[in-house]
Amino acid sequence: MMSKDLIGNKAATFATLAASNHSKGEREVNDYYATEPKAVELLLEKEKFNSIILEPACGEGHISQVLLNSGYAVKSSDLINRGFGEVKDFFEVDDFCGDIVTNPPYKVALDFVKHSLDIVDDGAKVAMFLKLQFLEGKARREFYKKNPPKKVYVASGRLNCVRNGLFEKYPSSAVAYAWFVWEKGYQGSPEIDWIN
Ligand SMILES: C[S@@+](CC[C@H](N)C(=O)[O-])C[C@H]1O[C@@H](n2cnc3c(N)ncnc32)[C@H](O)[C@@H]1O
Repeated sequence: MMSKDLIGNKAATFATLAASNHSKGEREVNDYYATEPKAVELLLEKEKFNSIILEPACGEGHISQVLLNSGYAVKSSDLINRGFGEVKDFFEVDDFCGDIVTNPPYKVALDFVKHSLDIVDDGAKVAMFLKLQFLEGKARREFYKKNPPKKVYVASGRLNCVRNGLFEKYPSSAVAYAWFVWEKGYQGSPEIDWIN
């Protein structure tokens, strides 16, 4: 069963996940990089979420499964059928009553954040696993002026986010990541913390 193995037996589970029965071409499109489950565990040591969470770009469920194992009710979907959750374009979701947690497709990451904040209620949390460099950039700076994240949790030790979920092929990462957590309506300064 995937849930326990995802945490307890990484090597076996990642091999299993990577061997899902989708064609190579299908699995390589749409920015598919799977999040190391440890990243979610570390986030949950810092943040409590609404009991209902949407993972709108769930891939093979690496984030969803940790949330489920921690007792959250998780609605999972992805544009591509990767064998986990519903098949749905996130930009067609009109509203969600709960929090959102995901690692979005990088090419449209800012649009994912914007859309998430559009569809949740005031006070709801939107947590995104993003490259640390998501802090910079002119368009993002403009966005942050009106929509500052409440917290940025930096991964000082590298966490892995792996192309096509092939953790055995790419066991380490040269990319710095952080969890960015928005609370809809928050207008203060972001607080920086470290998760490892
Ligand atoms: C960086 S991967 C992250 C997968 C998963 N969240 C994880 O962390 O393991 C981004 C995922 O977004 C999906 N995606 C891309 N565009 C999307 C859209 N418009 N709506 C929903 N999912 C989308 C891709 O298919 C891919 O699985």
